[in-house]
Amino acid sequence: MKLQINGQTRDCDVPPEMPLLWVLRDELGLTGTKFGCGIAACGACTVELNGVATRACVMPVGSVAGQAIRTIEGAPDRTVAALQAAWVQHQTPQCGYCQSGMILAAASLLRRSPQPSDADIDAAITNLCRCGTYQRIRAAIHTAAQALQGSRA
Ligand code: FES
Ligand code: FES
Repeated sequence: MKLQINGQTRDCDVPPEMPLLWVLRDELGLTGTKFGCGIAACGACTVELNGVATRACVMPVGSVAGQAIRTIEGAPDRTVAALQAAWVQHQTPQCGYCQSGMILAAASLLRRSPQPSDADIDAAITNLCRCGTYQRIRAAIHTAAQALQGSRA
């Protein structure tokens, strides 16, 4: 089947029921997307599917053929670039394991809600961080939102 990943068409000879996460990591070598729980609970495996945060560990690859998939390895668009800059500014990661999923969950949030409140962030980003970086993630999202608003003006 053909997958659209980070703007490129990738051919994969895999069973359609295989989780997208397995295909990304084991077939395509895109290991920036992490395995945490395998049951859609932690968000470590978050990718964007047509701009919407999606947990790849429970997504059969056959159901996303031809749809736009973004992983953390993709060339950053302005939203992801603003988030990455804010992540650096706030020194957000600790161990880093959850952070690629966090950034893509944050990107999905900013695409639909350009100036989210703390409550919006908490409601939208249910990813888990065992290092407890939630405060810095929240601050970085606000910084990115302000930067994007400024660059729109
Ligand atoms: S590995 Fe997918 S949600 Fe935890
Ligand atoms: S930075 Fe370590 S799990 Fe989030």
